[in-house]
Amino acid sequence: MRNPSGDRATRSDSIMYLRNGGVALLIDIDPNGMPEVLHWGADLGPLDDAALADVVAALERPRPNNTLEIPLRVSVVPEPHAGWLGRPGLAGAREGGDDWSPLFRPERITRQQLADGTVTVTVVAGDEPGGLRLEIDLELAPSGLARMRARLTNARDAPYAVEELSVVAPTPLRASEVLDFAGRWAKERHPQRGTLNVGTHLRENRRGRTGADAAHLMCVGEPGFGFQTGEIWATHVAFSGNHRSFADRVTAGVQVLGGGELLLPGEVRLARDESYETPWVYLAYGVGLDAVAHRFHRWLRARPHHPSAERPVTLNVWEAVYFDHTLSRLVDLADRAHAVGVERFVLDDGWFTNRRDDTAGLGDWVVDERVWPEGLAPLVDRVGQHGMQFGLWFEPEMVNPDSDLARRHPEWIMGTSGRLPVLSRHQLVLDLTIADAYAHVRDSIAALVARYGIRYLKWDHNRDLTDAGHPASGRAAVSAQTRAVSRLMDELRTRFPGLEIESCSSGGARVDLAILEHTDRVWASDCIDPLERQEIDSWTAQLIPPELIGSHIGAPRSHTTGRTHPLAFRAATAMFGHLGIEWDISSISDDERHALGEWIALYRRHRSLLFGGDVMRSADGDDSIRVRGVVSPTRDEALYCLATVSASPYAPRTRVRFPGLEAARRYRVAVVGEPLPEQWTGDAAWVDGVTLPGSVLGVVGLPIPEMQPEQAFVVHLAAAD
Ligand code: DGJ
Repeated sequence: MRNPSGDRATRSDSIMYLRNGGVALLIDIDPNGMPEVLHWGADLGPLDDAALADVVAALERPRPNNTLEIPLRVSVVPEPHAGWLGRPGLAGAREGGDDWSPLFRPERITRQQLADGTVTVTVVAGDEPGGLRLEIDLELAPSGLARMRARLTNARDAPYAVEELSVVAPTPLRASEVLDFAGRWAKERHPQRGTLNVGTHLRENRRGRTGADAAHLMCVGEPGFGFQTGEIWATHVAFSGNHRSFADRVTAGVQVLGGGELLLPGEVRLARDESYETPWVYLAYGVGLDAVAHRFHRWLRARPHHPSAERPVTLNVWEAVYFDHTLSRLVDLADRAHAVGVERFVLDDGWFTNRRDDTAGLGDWVVDERVWPEGLAPLVDRVGQHGMQFGLWFEPEMVNPDSDLARRHPEWIMGTSGRLPVLSRHQLVLDLTIADAYAHVRDSIAALVARYGIRYLKWDHNRDLTDAGHPASGRAAVSAQTRAVSRLMDELRTRFPGLEIESCSSGGARVDLAILEHTDRVWASDCIDPLERQEIDSWTAQLIPPELIGSHIGAPRSHTTGRTHPLAFRAATAMFGHLGIEWDISSISDDERHALGEWIALYRRHRSLLFGGDVMRSADGDDSIRVRGVVSPTRDEALYCLATVSASPYAPRTRVRFPGLEAARRYRVAVVGEPLPEQWTGDAAWVDGVTLPGSVLGVVGLPIPEMQPEQAFVVHLAAAD
């Protein structure tokens, strides 16, 4: 019998104190157990070894009556033997039940500072009697963003079945309010708030894709936390398949935040020397939601392959033509797109064999000769002559039963227990872990990319993965499929350097930091209604910077909601993301075309500010107004969108603040974009231009002019010094 308390007299000298970007992680690596994060949050300032030892000793938990005879330790992968009676980090066993409660002891600890300033710690631990090895990776980047993951290896002949492997970090009990996200198709990432009590606030996803209703970020914070107020601890599980996030509060007065992949029964069964690795679980601490968002944005922007701020204005033809592809119509759209300033032209669903609607053709990635007798060349050439990039839609994981591919290779289609899954949007899923299926999809896409010089793939994924088993064995295959898709994306990007991929999934159902390791932007939603996009884009930006969020100007009457909005509201909303058009601009008036061109020019003028600055949002006590802006890193320039999303209960409306400016500088404030909308029903003295101190703009604010609901305008602020 092992006795975990046997040699507790040996005090660990392995205290890791990581500081970066205003955040500190204090980690105690005890010889008897796995690393425990004693503090994750605000920087504690410089602490030398002696001070750190004192801190760690002082933080040892008192031992109440009726508990284990050791102080409770809550490691990154929490272990029940150490007194943790909340959600265990590892759930697994060998056949017959052995080794279900491992006790890991650290064997090797490595600390490194990477060239970009990121501090990393790796702990390798072993459970010799149990025949298991556990490795933990922990990182703290200069942005203050931290991430963790774990890797379990079976060192024995007898297979080890893993049900769950999660990683956690502690948050104080004062973080008693939780904000995370839910939603559905066309209303993704809808915020929900509540109070944390003892128990587990658990969000589980079994969709086989990130999900329109994914937790997105799980934030816990001081009650009432806002965009700039309240301490917040947030986590994001970076995985595009099944996953879980949770906040676990136990009666021992401990609260942790964490998550991992959600494994289906039998998905991970480790043979000797095989390993299972969790996704990265990200941790962002900050005062206010904006500060939390900045940590993610700065981290993403520091990646060497992060797209430049010159995000090309895109026209996607989906809502203009749907499946009705005719060369003359599309060439005309390309000409008009170029004339208003579009830089990338994307041909959406409907170009391949038998794809006249969504019931047939998926999987047959060959240009439909009946619709395109000369192939795509005439359109691609026209797009190229205008200097625009050409992009093409694919849905690589999917297949319609009514397709040549499904008829030829039924053995590639996922299913279980000898049955196929229930159809969703008339489609099924290809098992991309089958080498031939994978190669077929890869080579079909590669052939078209090479032939037409395609620069951009819109990579769609329009169904949940139910009953998604390997066709031959029927065993659950979501975990393996998720990883195969990443490999496929990477292979294509390696073969075609510079090829961009957009992650789309019934709109915005595949938005996470794992998919963004392999793609360059997300399509946030099929709902382009600006009223909905004010929310969707703003909350998507809680994780992802605006340059990675596809945001289009749709038709005046929204196809998904039926609401009608003026161009100013549609354009002012869309330009705070990666701007595109998804509207049949062949039928618009000259005035509209002119105004559209002006908005595009405004976006092009300001995109380095929009995509290099800090996202700032403001809530000023009137729920009918949304304030969303971007402030340059040097604080010398800012752009804000002011939108009315409903009728205000106040007349006149309240003042709105412009957060993020430097208090001591003076800023010239100017309304930019289309001339003030005629729907303005009253004026405000400042809209013709004013110069005011940042303190006044940030603390007092300015009165918003009287406007009808569902209007927006853009304000530019430039430091006057
Ligand atoms: C769903 C996407 O979200 C849309 O933008 C469009 O590409 C359709 N699929 C095409 O089928």
